[in-house]
Amino acid sequence: MTAIDDSIPVHHRGNGRPLTEERTITDLHVRGAIPPELDGRYLRNGANPITGTSAHPFFGDGMIHGIRLRDGQAQWYRNRYVQTPFIADPTIDILDPAVMMDMKASKANTHVIGHAGRILALEEGHFPYLLDGDLGTVGPVDFGGMLTGSFTAHPKICPVTGELLAFGYGAFPPYLRYLRVSADGELVQTEEITVGGPTMMHDFNITEHYAIFMDLPAVFDLDRALQGEMPITWSDTYPARLGVMPRTGTDADVRWYDINPCYVFHPMNAYEDGTNIVLDVARLDHIWRDSMMDFPMPELWRFTIDTVTGRVREEQIDDRPAEFPRVPDSRVGLPHRYGYMMGMPDNPNYEDPIHQRGSILKYDRVTGERREFDLGMGRTSGEPVFAAAADARNEDDGYLMTYVYDANADASSFIIIDAATMDAEPVAEVTLPRIPFGFHGSWVPADVAN
Ligand SMILES: [Fe+2]
Repeated sequence: MTAIDDSIPVHHRGNGRPLTEERTITDLHVRGAIPPELDGRYLRNGANPITGTSAHPFFGDGMIHGIRLRDGQAQWYRNRYVQTPFIADPTIDILDPAVMMDMKASKANTHVIGHAGRILALEEGHFPYLLDGDLGTVGPVDFGGMLTGSFTAHPKICPVTGELLAFGYGAFPPYLRYLRVSADGELVQTEEITVGGPTMMHDFNITEHYAIFMDLPAVFDLDRALQGEMPITWSDTYPARLGVMPRTGTDADVRWYDINPCYVFHPMNAYEDGTNIVLDVARLDHIWRDSMMDFPMPELWRFTIDTVTGRVREEQIDDRPAEFPRVPDSRVGLPHRYGYMMGMPDNPNYEDPIHQRGSILKYDRVTGERREFDLGMGRTSGEPVFAAAADARNEDDGYLMTYVYDANADASSFIIIDAATMDAEPVAEVTLPRIPFGFHGSWVPADVAN
């Protein structure tokens, strides 16, 4: 590895180094056997600044890393920028208030999903961007003019109705809108939701009948934006609340429940249990209180909302640091037994990747057991994405997919592991060039978007 250069921001050291080229590789080396039922694309988004540097890990330009699986083969790997206005003109300032208000000026760097025949690259401050099956950019999506504000990077696809349930938040009123997209991709409901102020609402939850907002004390501070800093800071006075609304309801139907101050980037899942609503979340004690790089370690917690008494029980499930929780797409909003997370290294350190030891964790919420897929010294992964096996009978009959970075070789691979057994030997591993750390991804079957 190269020597540490203090002039390089911490988030661009080690595997935080952005890539400088887009590649297409069709001659891929595979170890093991790719399950033949996997016909589709594993896609993952991340921030890869086209200028080579960004002031914050969240400010880089969206780059999708995709791998096409079919007939037991890895047909191609591609990495492509999402062609946003920032790619055409890298001098545009993301913190310019006029740019923040331009809904087409997305970094499109946070998530990528498949819904209603479309592949969408998402970032929470702006419109989604539509991609084609080869990861080319078609353009921003405003749902035929129906979307007038931001669209979250973490919408939820209901496995029962096929709807895409979402929201948008912003620094200016209305601070929060609920958005409901039909199974065929039409934005059919927009509701303004009353909250106490502008907060960073990164993700949310659905259950069979409800949408659940997380209004937490990470609040907008535009003075900071004008100083060129992250425009969001921790508040010791803004109340932390969960807002429960029927999925076809309105602002008047939202019932708010107080919780202890915390921050949640990512819930694992939520579901109804009689008159209770259960949320499993990756909970942080706070966020950005001391600086804009102030990220405490997330840990798995369970919030149980008692809709009869109005109280919320808050239980820590594990003290093992972990992030990027996921359940199978078929369990979103429904009771889950298993959840998967990216285990965090004991001492995350961009400057010393060879001594980081990554893992993929599997939580059994019935037995309380936690199982671990150990990636080995110098090897770290991203978010584990689940795809069901062809003959699945149990919830965990399927595969976990992610990109793995190996600091020993300064290169990456795509791995498929057996989610049921968490066997130490991957089902398949595809050798790839280095893929920088990124954010979220999806398995998009060919029958969802092609
Ligand atoms: Fe996220």
